[in-house]
Amino acid sequence: MALAAARARLPLRALGCPLPHGLVPVAARRCCGEAGGPAALPPGGYGVWQERAARDPAGFWAEVARGALRWDSPFHTACQACPAGGAARWFLGGRLNVSVNCLDQHVEKSPDRVALIWERDEPGTAVHVTYRELLDLTCRLANTLKKYGIQKGDKVAIYMSVSPLSVAAMLACARIGAVHTVVFAGFSAESLAGRIIDSVITYNQAVRGGRIIELKRTVDEAVKNCPSIKHVFVAQRTDNKVWMGDRDIPLEEEMAKAASVCAPESMDSEDMLFMLYTSGSTGKPKGIVHTQAGYLLYSAVTHKYVFDYQQGDVFGCVADIGWITGHSYVVYGPLCNGATSVLFESTPVYPDPGRYWEMVQRLKINQFYGAPTAIRLLLNYGEEWVKKYDRSSLKTLGSVGEPINNEAWQWFYHVVGEGRCTLVDTWWQTETGGICIAPRPSEEKAEIVPAMAMRPFFGIVPVLMDDNGKVIEGVDVSGALCIAQPWPGMARTIFGDHQRFVDAYFKAYPGYYFTGDGAYRTKKGYYQITGRMDDVINISGHRLGTAEIEDAMADHPEVPETAVIGYPHKIKGEGAFAFIVLKEQTAHTDHVKEELKTMVASKIAKYAVPDHIVVVKRLPKTRSGKIMRRLLRKVVTEQSNNMGDVTTLDDPSVVKEILDAYQKYKEKTSL
Ligand code: PRX
Repeated sequence: MALAAARARLPLRALGCPLPHGLVPVAARRCCGEAGGPAALPPGGYGVWQERAARDPAGFWAEVARGALRWDSPFHTACQACPAGGAARWFLGGRLNVSVNCLDQHVEKSPDRVALIWERDEPGTAVHVTYRELLDLTCRLANTLKKYGIQKGDKVAIYMSVSPLSVAAMLACARIGAVHTVVFAGFSAESLAGRIIDSVITYNQAVRGGRIIELKRTVDEAVKNCPSIKHVFVAQRTDNKVWMGDRDIPLEEEMAKAASVCAPESMDSEDMLFMLYTSGSTGKPKGIVHTQAGYLLYSAVTHKYVFDYQQGDVFGCVADIGWITGHSYVVYGPLCNGATSVLFESTPVYPDPGRYWEMVQRLKINQFYGAPTAIRLLLNYGEEWVKKYDRSSLKTLGSVGEPINNEAWQWFYHVVGEGRCTLVDTWWQTETGGICIAPRPSEEKAEIVPAMAMRPFFGIVPVLMDDNGKVIEGVDVSGALCIAQPWPGMARTIFGDHQRFVDAYFKAYPGYYFTGDGAYRTKKGYYQITGRMDDVINISGHRLGTAEIEDAMADHPEVPETAVIGYPHKIKGEGAFAFIVLKEQTAHTDHVKEELKTMVASKIAKYAVPDHIVVVKRLPKTRSGKIMRRLLRKVVTEQSNNMGDVTTLDDPSVVKEILDAYQKYKEKTSL
């Protein structure tokens, strides 16, 4: 019943705003035009730019920034070290507005160019939104925020599924200088509560994979514990009514009354643009802060050059806007370049496993950017789901978020891309703002090695470090992946805790940014990411600290101790595997395990729930009481004949105990 209502909605109404221009048929709209071209680089080629950017990052990026961004006033200093330590500051003295760069400059020349194609959950119901319409939506939303007292520097949480309205919400914040923090719509009320500061924008419900997700209900639960929240703006994604309280404001009604022009706030290059929470190896997720000019420039330039985006192309990044990939390659990079960007609301298997490729055919997508986990899932369904659709529009394929295994790479390249599309495995992080290592750009026709990120982007200088903090020179070597020089897209701080930022990223190898990943430099000098070196795991491309999952289980009265590790999972890349100690008298083990799973889902999100929970008598600990997760990983990956150094264990007999418990669990389950 509820779902039928969601499906029946008119595309235009579902936009959540009374658009003055009406819905223009797709064929009558242009996806390309003459205005607002993609980010410009100085004359030369890959080799010239790469050498120049590495030798003189400030000079290189200054030149690029002058050509690629629209400034209110020019910057006087391209790059300056941060006095408090950590990442450098960029484009000092410069002023600009990010929404002007993403909207107004294109509207001036090509107002009817399509900015967004909202590929809604139900196939065949896509909504096209022009740059003029998106500017209109953004201004109305910005004026609504202003009416309720939201000002420059205020923090606005966006808890919405991907849609033109959620993109407009991000840009509306940028327009008035508010700081947005998008929270992935799969996060629980408790996670959300920790991330809302002043106000929140949400939908009544979301629709995904044919199912309704009760977003407003989750917000209601979250705000119970957030006395700081002044306003909850509620947009309508479905026709279903939800409870509205005193703090709740019907967003579309207010937008309809608001003016469609909103003067942009002139922002300092280094003012905060957004923060995005991400997991680290310790403590709660941290709010990574990105600033205006450097972030926008880096996302735009990488979007153009890694994917070879040409004006008129339809760019299809299927990430959610709740993650950095959605920020940089659904919203900011493409829109700054005047691109047509696809907003994918559904799942790769809804209504069937041909969804991506049917969409590629229907929307004539030229660049398709997705996650290995989806590719691994889809390759199990067979090639016919791909081959029945025309993919001749595709030119570039991209992979992001986790290592892509060789089988998935080959399938993506040969089956989806018919062996004729460039496939780029892109390595980067929430902290880096944009892609740092990828096979493209490169010299014309340079080789691409399967399943490898390969080459640093302009101005990125990767180095490998040994255990003693020394740079490892030469080729055919592995070490901790650091970046030696500043680049504009780097995060500037952790919200409210600059020291934590400095400690997490700049302390292990003074003078270098430490990524947390390990890497191998091949004989030819290419980079292959080998995985995290800390206690961060990557489930379906979503980053999680094992400590976060342990913390979520810590309150269970029957479970005094837990240890969580990542283990290889065929589809998800990694899954969470928990070892727990129960109180002696605990009887209903299975019941306790179910309770633990519920706790993790409600404190973090469903995807964080451990796939396996094994009860042990004790955890392996060093004499100083530290849990040796390394040993647990060896047990789970069945390398117990090669446990390494166990001499620091408090009691080495614990290893056999754990191995026995694991064997018993294995026999009982389908592990
Ligand atoms: O371990 C790396 C992995 O994802 C981490 C960053 O996660 P997050 O900040 O959520 O950003 C994901 C989207 C950019 C990295 O530290 N990672 C990301 N891309 C790759 C990767 N691992 C291997 N290959 C990649 N291409």
